[in-house]
Amino acid sequence: MEKRRPILVVNFGSQYVQLIARRVRELGVYSEIVHWDTPLEDIKAKEPYGLIFSGGPASVYAKGAPLPPKGIYSLGVPILGICYGLQVIAHQLGGAVVKSDRQEYGRARLRVLKEDRIFEGLPREFDVWMSHADKVERLPEGFETLASSENSPHAVIASKDRKIYGFQFHPEVVHTTFGKELLANFVYGVCGAQRNWEMGNFIEEKIEEIRETVGNARVIAALSGGVDSTVASVLVYRAIGDRLRCFFIDHGLLRLGEREEVEKNLRSLGLPLEVVDASSLFLERLRGVEDPEEKRKIVGRTFIEVFEREAKKVEGAEFLLQGTLYPDVVESAGIKGSAKIKTHHNVGGLPEKMNLKLLEPFRQLFKDEVREIGKLLGIPKEILLRHPFPGPGLAIRILGEVTKENLDILRRADRIFIEELKKEGLYEKIWQAFAVLLPVKSVGVMGDVRTYEKVIALRAVHSTDGMTADWYRLPYDFLDRVMRRIINEVRGVGRVVYDVSSKPPSTIEWE
Ligand code: XMP
Repeated sequence: MEKRRPILVVNFGSQYVQLIARRVRELGVYSEIVHWDTPLEDIKAKEPYGLIFSGGPASVYAKGAPLPPKGIYSLGVPILGICYGLQVIAHQLGGAVVKSDRQEYGRARLRVLKEDRIFEGLPREFDVWMSHADKVERLPEGFETLASSENSPHAVIASKDRKIYGFQFHPEVVHTTFGKELLANFVYGVCGAQRNWEMGNFIEEKIEEIRETVGNARVIAALSGGVDSTVASVLVYRAIGDRLRCFFIDHGLLRLGEREEVEKNLRSLGLPLEVVDASSLFLERLRGVEDPEEKRKIVGRTFIEVFEREAKKVEGAEFLLQGTLYPDVVESAGIKGSAKIKTHHNVGGLPEKMNLKLLEPFRQLFKDEVREIGKLLGIPKEILLRHPFPGPGLAIRILGEVTKENLDILRRADRIFIEELKKEGLYEKIWQAFAVLLPVKSVGVMGDVRTYEKVIALRAVHSTDGMTADWYRLPYDFLDRVMRRIINEVRGVGRVVYDVSSKPPSTIEWE
């Protein structure tokens, strides 16, 4: 295989590091991640078109802050610093970075002060996504300010001669309106990169790699019916055929009619499948448990136990296939320097116990990349466009104790919400929508009688990867209709609210 010159993303511990790499791949240029203290020799050997310094949680002036070897600026390779990456550049090249008295999180308006190739084809003003506490106060010599925002006077800086740029905001998240264009201007305009990456390559390479890795052994997979595990299974099925064995475990925390639907879908793809009903075991173990992490752990552990029991029946199984995506890895703190946010049950625990090797073909990818692969593999649209559903299922959408009664209420409310979204043609426009059952009761009045009943929260978010999200602006009339149907049709619910939180600072799921 010929050598692909990459854009190297230098990782300073940002939650978004893989997202940056993937945005570059989307632009058609191969991209890889390297740790911030990678020796310069190793960087040079990769012949990068350019370097992108990621953001990170540290402050450049703090003791032990991650800083790359200074020689990195003399390699003659173009550099773009993002957020902390910008501060690294300013700090190491002799500027000053200070703690800002006002933190800046969320949307901000960027104003272009000086024309430059980095802004080619873009308007003079647009929205960007900020998330920082420190800011550049004084520029290093040879640098100039190209754009500013209200709270960041030096929001874009550059030393044009040296092809070094810095953005205080995050071009990689979808909320930066022209993020992709800015990155394209850096990758193509500043670095002069050549197109060398597309999804088709990835599929061929992976199939080859899976054949090599697996040899004559068997692979087992736990399917959820969701996009990731389905696409992963079809990919592996392509590579090794019936030596793949799939299990679908019903943990009793599924949505209304989900088990039947999933079974039908998976069989239609020809996958070798076994359906296991373990719902009573899960519900028994969850009885009386209210803590979110505890619930996640119980579901995770029980899942492993049931799966292990089933999988033992497969002779010669050496590998466990998982549809793990990059956000699962990063948010479970599988990445050095990232903070643990939630325990995701599909990462960790299982393989050690079962003495299996892990096969995770999508560990570097994001959901919409996996959807694209699914499309190329010929998987029907209805499966690919299914909203993501968390491994612990409705257990983390019922705040407080998971009981049969609560499950029943939530399932029926959720069904109404999703049904109405589909009817209205909104389902496919939304990344993820669902109902949540709150552990509070609220007073109401129905037919002159005082009621005291449960509250359902509706959540619908827009996202492309689940790492960041914004609440979806559903029409008021639509919300009104859903509210009416839920309160009229689902006994035990007396109030419906709509969640208008973005991620960050909130997460998509409530637990
Ligand atoms: P959060 O709530 O962390 O969710 O913003 C981000 C995305 O991940 C899904 N999610 C999970 N998926 N196991 C999964 O397989 C889990 O434990 C889990 N928790 C959250 C969530 O639905 C959203 O799409």
